[in-house]
Amino acid sequence: MFFLLLVLGVLAGAMEIQVPDEPVVALFGQDATLRCSFSPEANFSLDDLSLIWQLTDTKRLVHRFSGGRDQLEDQGRVYTNRTSLFYDQLPQGNVSLLLRRVEIADEGSFTCFVRVRDYNSAAVTLQVAAPYSKPSVHLEPSKDLKPGDLAFVTCHASRGYPEASVLWQDSRGSNITENITTSQVANEEGLFDVHSVLQVLVEPSITYSCLVQNLVLQQHGHASVTITGQHLAFPAAALWVTVGLAICVLGLLVVLAYVCHKKIRESCEEEEENAGTEEQDEEGEEPKTALQLLKSAESKEDNEQEID
Ligand SMILES: *[C@@H]1O[C@H](CO)[C@@H](O)[C@H](O)[C@H]1NC(C)=O
Ligand SMILES: *[C@@H]1O[C@H](CO)[C@@H](O)[C@H](O)[C@H]1NC(C)=O
Ligand SMILES: *[C@@H]1O[C@H](CO)[C@@H](O)[C@H](O)[C@H]1NC(C)=O
Ligand SMILES: *[C@@H]1O[C@H](CO)[C@@H](O)[C@H](O)[C@H]1NC(C)=O
Ligand SMILES: *[C@@H]1O[C@H](CO)[C@@H](O)[C@H](O)[C@H]1NC(C)=O
Repeated sequence: MFFLLLVLGVLAGAMEIQVPDEPVVALFGQDATLRCSFSPEANFSLDDLSLIWQLTDTKRLVHRFSGGRDQLEDQGRVYTNRTSLFYDQLPQGNVSLLLRRVEIADEGSFTCFVRVRDYNSAAVTLQVAAPYSKPSVHLEPSKDLKPGDLAFVTCHASRGYPEASVLWQDSRGSNITENITTSQVANEEGLFDVHSVLQVLVEPSITYSCLVQNLVLQQHGHASVTITGQHLAFPAAALWVTVGLAICVLGLLVVLAYVCHKKIRESCEEEEENAGTEEQDEEGEEPKTALQLLKSAESKEDNEQEID
């Protein structure tokens, strides 16, 4: 707790008011406590207290307490039903303000003005913050890319506050600083949607990472995309393997065709020669060639299998 001791002696013997030194960070949509306190004298009565919480710059009334009760007739409309004090702690001089359902518009400086007999005031700064959604990245176009093509890697994170710090890194983890376009657009609630577009020349298997940081919340989110075969028209490595294989297969086919052609011609000539003898084989017991023996053995086996 960093308390700034305010002993601004505008008036001699002015009371001391304690407020946080540093901005109070409140999450969007949640409740915030703006701390402010003084040290009351022993005979202090709540009836003697006048407390005003107001915006430092516009003096718009946020909350008033005097005569022992809240006086909210002149309260700014945006604070209706959103403010209260810690009533049980008022007798101890704790005049902190509870602000409910913090909005982006609440960000800024609030003045805590206290009067008992003396009076004094001090300002508290409210910093609103909202964590960004986990970023998502996508590659555009997402397919039929060729090495050297221009592509866009888009990183998107939403509903954060304040503006994000966006960092791009390559596979080696080095920062990329060129060819990046980042836009941060506030929605009606004041929360930012971040779009960052990185232009790249396609290189297979390179990874692009996008880091989205909310520096107020010390929040980091990252996402990455790797240019893989699914994005490429034809992966370079696979292309050469395919071309190589195709040439091999073609070569084999040519050789095979040549061999077959030769074999067919040879066997045709042979068959022409053997045509007469083969017919005779079925009846006569002419000596069989090795090939014919093999053939008959095969056919026997076939028969056996069929019987089975
Ligand atoms: C409270 O006590 C102080 C002295 O400590 C005195 O000056 C002051 O008048 C008292 N106030 C009331 C309202 O009694
Ligand atoms: C504030 O609260 C009261 C009582 O719960 C309700 O009647 C009123 O409509 C609320 N006003 C706003 C502006 O929300
Ligand atoms: C005042 O009350 C608030 C809410 O309970 C608490 O957070 C804060 O620490 C208190 N301040 C002092 C000085 O007691
Ligand atoms: C990248 O940039 C960020 C912020 O500018 C810096 O903190 C970080 O050290 C850098 N990283 C490298 C590897 O240069
Ligand atoms: C990125 O920027 C550099 C330097 O400005 C340039 O040489 C390069 O061609 C750019 N790359 C793309 C993809 O636009």
